Amino acid sequence: MKRVLSGMQPSGKLTLGNYIGALKNFAELQHTHECYFMIVDLHAITVPQEPAALREQSEAVAALYIAAGIDPAKSTMFLQSHVRQHAELGWMLTTLTYMGELERMTQFKDKSAGKESVGAGLFTYPSLMAADILLYNADLVPVGDDQKQHLELTRDLAHRFNQRYGETFVIPEPYIPQVGARIMSLDDASNKMSKSNPNQGSFIALLDAPDVIRKKISRAVTDSGREVKYDPHNKPEVSNLISIYAQCSKKPIAEIEALYDGQGYGPFKKDLAEQVVALLEPLQERYRSIRESGELHSALRQGAERAAEQAEKTLREVKEKMGFILF
Ligand code: TYM
Repeated sequence: MKRVLSGMQPSGKLTLGNYIGALKNFAELQHTHECYFMIVDLHAITVPQEPAALREQSEAVAALYIAAGIDPAKSTMFLQSHVRQHAELGWMLTTLTYMGELERMTQFKDKSAGKESVGAGLFTYPSLMAADILLYNADLVPVGDDQKQHLELTRDLAHRFNQRYGETFVIPEPYIPQVGARIMSLDDASNKMSKSNPNQGSFIALLDAPDVIRKKISRAVTDSGREVKYDPHNKPEVSNLISIYAQCSKKPIAEIEALYDGQGYGPFKKDLAEQVVALLEPLQERYRSIRESGELHSALRQGAERAAEQAEKTLREVKEKMGFILF
């Protein structure tokens, strides 16, 4: 059975972009693949985090994973910091990574732009991400479009290691959805929807109350004109909303265009809000009952034990090949 691995940062609230671009696929893939899903708390600290908030958000993401359909008995779901092999292999891969490669990463450029002091961890972040994936010899990595470049680097590092030390790592493939790989911000379709955007109206958080969702969608920026037409080049704002509609309703884009033909943006936005609410309301109910059940910690502990077993196997092989003395 092919292996899948992916992860999300517990920094801030997960958004509809996270869900459509990645999380939705996690649950689907677990029926056909052996899956590892992480909450990447070590990655989250590459920017300053309030300790209490980090704890809360890590639990929230774990609960959202389950609410979105991940079954911790079927998939291995765990916190990155619980499996120390990530930090260890991360360091080893950092030594194989070139400065130039890290300097080219657009996520680093975006996150460091205009900052006076930038943590070294933000720079070496992609080497740790490569370790996440390679520790489990994942074949497939479901991610949104913005992680493509990190995946390319992971593949390069795997090749580099294999060439230098002999065949060790599987070369992973990205698994990126055709529609919804890049959900854009509601206030400006030239930026991706992001949980770190200070304008709360620019994103829909998975835990936003239905009325908040309705309000945010009614205020979403639309292009001039009134035609509900998917044309990302000329109508980027409306095209983004159509992508969201398509993903929430599972309707093809052409059907959505036909449905609102000649009706203008008003009815379209109203229905879109209801589609999003219909998707998120049951997820939010499941989320609340998981948080209340108190079962999260035992699920995470079991996940960490299973993950560590596999991670240790790979790490020992890596250490042996690199020339470390093993006991
Ligand atoms: P993160 O936490 O920023 O995002 C989690 C996932 O959500 C996707 N995503 C989006 N997809 C569509 N539209 C959007 N607006 C949008 N915003 C976010 C991201 O592409 C991602 O798939 N580096 C990763 C976390 C990570 C990881 C890994 C992923 C660490 N190790 C190993 C896969 C495998 C990140 O920062 O994702």
